Amino acid sequence: MTKKITIAIDGFSSTGKSTIAKQLAKELGYIYVDTGAMYRAVTLYAMQQNLISKNHFNTTELIDDLSSISISFVFNPSLGYAEVYLNGTNVEKEIRTIEVSKLVSKVATISEIRKKLVSEQQNMGKNKGVVMDGRDIGTVVFPNAELKLFMTASADKRAKRRYKELVDRGDRVNYEEILHNVQERDRIDSTRADSPLVVAEDAIEFDNSDMGLKEQFERILNLVKTHALT
Ligand code: DC
Repeated sequence: MTKKITIAIDGFSSTGKSTIAKQLAKELGYIYVDTGAMYRAVTLYAMQQNLISKNHFNTTELIDDLSSISISFVFNPSLGYAEVYLNGTNVEKEIRTIEVSKLVSKVATISEIRKKLVSEQQNMGKNKGVVMDGRDIGTVVFPNAELKLFMTASADKRAKRRYKELVDRGDRVNYEEILHNVQERDRIDSTRADSPLVVAEDAIEFDNSDMGLKEQFERILNLVKTHALT
């Protein structure tokens, strides 16, 4: 397995894309890039600067500020994956809150923001040997990726997984709120004008509603070995 390839994993929110992407990157010795974390970091910045809340969004000022927003990934050896930094501060925990989840899809509709992040993502993957997950990786960021996966699962299963994750880390949330957020993000991500979430023509679709992590990983690794690395 010497040939390095690009693996694009797209799909709906909370379909376990990042878990699979992290495992694959570890197994193959590839870089893993969580592009959702980049949109979340920009959202956190906008919240900190009072540029966005439930009822207002100052897009002009956020666009003006883009050149002073620096997002980076720093590998944490004790976790085995990279954490996201916003202007030099580790924001890995802050970007996963329900407050950020409620606003991030709105931020991700802005073309100027997408342009900046897509160009950074293309740069991070320019030497191949990368597993990148998001919504537009196989369609916009790396349309020539050797392997494209599209992950899906029922909204109820996804909300249950997300609810458990948040409760396990000590956040106070309720299930109905999470389910509503998952459905609302599906709607905004799939209907936005710029780079909507669609299945790339050459993507392999994976419904993991009733599939355990181990089975899913084995199947996908097999796909990588048989289809892409030979
Ligand atoms: O993968 P995630 O749930 O952390 O992503 C958060 C949001 O960011 C998601 O609702 C839509 C947006 N996003 C995007 O528009 N394009 C990407 N490549 C990744 C995420």
